[in-house]
Amino acid sequence: MQQLYDIPEEELLAEIRQLRAKLDDKVLILGHHYQREEVIGFADVTGDSLKLAQYAAATPAPYIIFCGVHFMAETADILTSDSQTVILPDLAAGCSMADMADDVQVRRCWQELAEVISPDETVTPVTYINSTAALKSFCGEHGGIVCTSSNCERVLNWAWGRREKILFFPDQHLGENTALAMGVPESDMIIWDPAKHLGGNSVEAIEKARLILWKGFCSVHQLFKAEHAASMRQQHPGIEILAHPECSRAVCETADFVGSTEAIIQYVAKAPAGKSFAVATELNLVNRMRLHNPGNKVYFLSPTICMCSTMFRTDPQHLLASLKEVEAGHVAHPIRVPEVDQTWGRLSLQRMLDLA
Ligand code: 13P
Ligand code: SF4
Repeated sequence: MQQLYDIPEEELLAEIRQLRAKLDDKVLILGHHYQREEVIGFADVTGDSLKLAQYAAATPAPYIIFCGVHFMAETADILTSDSQTVILPDLAAGCSMADMADDVQVRRCWQELAEVISPDETVTPVTYINSTAALKSFCGEHGGIVCTSSNCERVLNWAWGRREKILFFPDQHLGENTALAMGVPESDMIIWDPAKHLGGNSVEAIEKARLILWKGFCSVHQLFKAEHAASMRQQHPGIEILAHPECSRAVCETADFVGSTEAIIQYVAKAPAGKSFAVATELNLVNRMRLHNPGNKVYFLSPTICMCSTMFRTDPQHLLASLKEVEAGHVAHPIRVPEVDQTWGRLSLQRMLDLA
């Protein structure tokens, strides 16, 4: 692997192109919109988490190279057959938000809820796709479901249709922003802090709540502030603010449009020329939107750099190393979700895919 860094860039890119063409339909390369420019160009499909999960579920390719982060590759492994192999080019490409809720904490939360209510009868667990396979499995086992940033409202409606309360993890903000946009009053929501008994809530608050929001967040999206939007509006009258729903409530409330990465891309692509946008999501994507929309002005909402450092870990060298493993027919570290989590995780993912 290390010697790949000694190859001049042009040679390296040419080798990727050559090998990719040789492997043909033996491999499908999926690329999340936050991938860097040098990598995304090699993706057969680019998309948000939902779109990429749908492609993973449908592909017959024996090898899937997922240029994204760990939870995405795990999801692809759950949705593909045992004879297919999912590769994450850099195994250290995680998601800090997904790490904010683990299996032990969520099971403890469920037990503590049982001190107050009967969760298996009254609570639907909903996990954001940005979570470990173990949490998707927990949701499958307990009548719950997975959501993404592009179908959260539909999933919340489904979940409330089954039971009166929802436990939503790990991202407080996606749950909160979506519910507020649906007209759910703030008084129906509580925050669950996993470090505190009963999540830091009173018995009465838990009994009354309809939406229990795990205290997790994306450190990249929390860097955008409502003041940034105000200053953009002052500098560029008529500008539209576009935000990802992982941003804070204050940013989403001031935004003209809130949506997934794919929805934000489509929103700008469909706009007439001559418009201005300030976008509150990851920097690599916003830079690409600027390149692809020369007729419009696309600004980054924050004055500071908000980059997903784990998405950035996938570089052309790691991609080439993965392709070489496919060529050799030996993948050293495939993403393999344990059997039990495969079974239950597939159920909660399938419930989501069936809603699409
Ligand atoms: P999307 O599904 O909207 O692409 O979001 C994934 C993500 O991790 C955003 O931080
Ligand atoms: Fe995770 Fe945030 Fe990176 Fe998305 S941007 S992958 S939520 S750390």
